[in-house]
This record gives sequence, C-alpha cells and structure tokens, in this order.
Amino acid sequence: MNILLTGGAGYIGSHTAVALSEAGHEVVLLDNFYNSNPSVLDRLQKILGKALPCIEADIRDTDVVEKVLREYKIDAVIHFAGLKAVGESVEKPIEYYANNVQGTISLLEAMKAMNVKTLVFSSSATVYGDPQYLPIDENHPTGATSAYGRSKLHIEEILRDVANSDAEWKIICLRYFNPVGAHESGLIGEDPNGLPNNLMPYIAQVASGKLPHLNIYGNDYPTPDGTGVRDYIHVVDLAEGHLAALSHLERNTEFDIFNLGMGKGYSVLEVVSAFEDACQVTIKYNITKRRIGDIASCYGRVDKAERLLGWKALKTINEMCITAWQHQVRTKSELVNVKKFI
Ligand code: NAD
Ligand code: WQD
Repeated sequence: MNILLTGGAGYIGSHTAVALSEAGHEVVLLDNFYNSNPSVLDRLQKILGKALPCIEADIRDTDVVEKVLREYKIDAVIHFAGLKAVGESVEKPIEYYANNVQGTISLLEAMKAMNVKTLVFSSSATVYGDPQYLPIDENHPTGATSAYGRSKLHIEEILRDVANSDAEWKIICLRYFNPVGAHESGLIGEDPNGLPNNLMPYIAQVASGKLPHLNIYGNDYPTPDGTGVRDYIHVVDLAEGHLAALSHLERNTEFDIFNLGMGKGYSVLEVVSAFEDACQVTIKYNITKRRIGDIASCYGRVDKAERLLGWKALKTINEMCITAWQHQVRTKSELVNVKKFI
C-alpha cells in the first residue's frame, strides 16, 4: 500500500514509518516540522537503507495535501499531525483547535476530493479524563479536561460522522496510553524542545547529566507508593499497532476505536527504579507538589486490540528504559533534503 503519514517526522510517526516500510509498504511523510527536525529523514534513511519521500507542508494547506495524495497515489492515511502539549493547550486553545480540528477537516477534504477514504487517527487516552474505573476500556465515558483532550474528542466525533455518512470511508481511532522508548538503533526517539513535559525523556536527561534531578510530582496519591501510575507502551510496539489497524481496515469497514497500551501500570518510582536497573545509572529526584491536572492512576484494558487487531504490546519496561537512554546518548545529525511543494 502507499501510505501517507501526516506528522510523519514526529516521535510516533517516524517509528511507524519504519514499521510500515519494513513490512513492504511505500511510505510518504508530510510534516511542517513545527515539533520535529528534518534530520529525522537522514536517520530514517540510515535505519531503512533508503530515503523516504517527505513533503514539508501544513495539513491545513488542503491543496498541497490533495497534490500529495494524487502524486503518490496514496491508498491510506495515518494522521499523527497535531499539537500535543496538554498544559500549553489550556493557554492556547485557539491554536490547538485550529491545528488539530481544523487541520483534520482540511485533511478530510483533501482525502474526499482524491477519493482516499482509509484513515487511522492518533487519539489519546487523555479523552477518558479522570478514570471512573480501572483498567479503562473503550466504553469508559469520555470527559477530557484540557483543550488538547477535547480537540481529540471533537476529531473522533467528526470521524464517526464522516464514517457514517458514506460506507466507503474506513476509519479507526487509536487511543494511545503513554508511548515511551525509542528504536533499537537509538537513531530516532523522542526529542522534546526545551524542558521535557513527560517523565521518560526527563529521566533520560537527568541520566545524561543534562538536567540535575527529576521532580516527582507528588507522593500522596492513592497508589501503592503514592506516586502517579501510568500505562507505558514502547513506541515500537505502538508503531506495530498501526500496521495491525491498517490490515484490519482491509477486512472490516466499520468505524472503530481501540486502546493501545500495555494494560498495566507503573508508578513514577517504579519507572525510576527500572531505569536505574536497566541503564546502571542513578537518578536523583526530589518529591515536589502535585502537577495541576494530573490524575492518580491511568491504565487501559487492551484486549479489544488483541482480539480484533491481533496486536499486543510485548516490549518490557526494561526495553523502554534502555532504548530511551540509547536515544538520549546518540548525537544529532545534520539537516537533509526536504522536498517542497510550491
Ligand atoms: P510529535 O509532536 O513528535 O509529532 C507530531 C508531528 O506533527 C510533528 O512532527 C509536527 O511537526 C507535526 N505537525 C504538527 N502540526 C502539523 C500541521 N499542522 N501540519 C503538518 N505537520 C504538523 O508528537 P507524537 O508524540 O509523535 O504524537 C503523534 C500523535 O499522537 C499526535 O496527534 C498526538 O496528539 C498523539 N498522541 C501522542 C501521545 C504521546 O504521548 N506522544 C499520546 C497520545 C496521543
Ligand atoms: C507521567 C507520570 C506525572 C514528569 C501525558 C499527557 C497525555 C498523553 C501522554 C498525549 C505522572 C509524573 C512527569 C516529571 C513526574 N499525551 N511526572 N515528573 O501526564 O500521564 O500524560 O502524556 O496524548 O495526554 O497528559 O504523562 O509522562 O507527563 O507523566 O513526576 O517531570 O510522571 O506526574 O504521574 P501523562 P507524563
């Protein structure tokens, strides 16, 4: 299949590009590099032994997206492009709705015009809000608590309507839990700009000496050790989940939603300890007050994906830590060619 990855230069998109390409698909990336760097293309080439076409463009540029769909004879789209910082979304809701919701509508317009009607969308477990029960299954009530989360919910609703409007549309929403880790080469991984918001990249930067210590946001939660519990999933497993979703859409046409996670939770202290064991480093930390908006525990029920997609996350917390660490210590390479559409 010829598959377009919007936001394909980003953290999850780049790992999915590897998985799809290694499975024999033709992959095309489209990214405006708002939160990624063209140097990822060079690294993908090193991993795959061939260059992937990448178009520098914004998904809100419907004409360019149409052109790409036509020129590369795209069969299916995986839609990663979006803004994803929860805290920032509360301060900049207009930017988040414009980029995420308006961006998706623009993409759908282009897809409809070019008769490309197979789509896998990157949603998030954040749509569940504060869990009413654990593990969270796909029928758990939704109730996002940030503009980011609500943008994901709005998009899911739009996609459901689109799928209901025309039987030719085949759409799956994947609700990711907490993706961490990196490709085994260490060449691609999570490269946050500035201070990391998320736990694993923060720990990796403490381990490398870039940051002095980790701040653990609260140890008075109703969890076994008092620190927050999350469902961490290795990004390479997550990437494989997209392959499974696309195969599912070849056989099934119904709109559907799947949780993608490990189905078990680790506390912050457990992740710190796993990282220390896996990488033989000491992670200094301070316990600080809770981060506003955080919840105590969040982990998914993931048997629906196993049953219907034939997919299951297999990589351990140890592998998540080692690869996050390996990526941290790799040096950055230079910018490479990016094809621009005028
Ligand atoms: P990322 O920021 O690394 O990747 C997103 C990519 O999209 C970036 O390369 C960015 O430059 C690009 N982009 C953003 N807006 C664009 C636009 N208008 N046009 C073209 N390109 C644009 O993020 P990621 O972690 O790889 O996340 C991918 C998707 O998965 C996002 O939609 C995110 O909301 C979702 N998600 C991520 C997580 C997570 O913790 N990483 C969890 C759940 C869901
Ligand atoms: C994990 C745990 C923190 C940093 C976020 C988004 C979510 C999804 C994934 C996109 C929590 C604690 C963290 C630190 C800490 N993204 N922590 N010190 O908050 O579960 O999810 O990313 O959809 O929408 O909200 O992930 O990695 O930020 O935090 O103690 O410096 O680590 O309190 O318990 P989170 P996280």
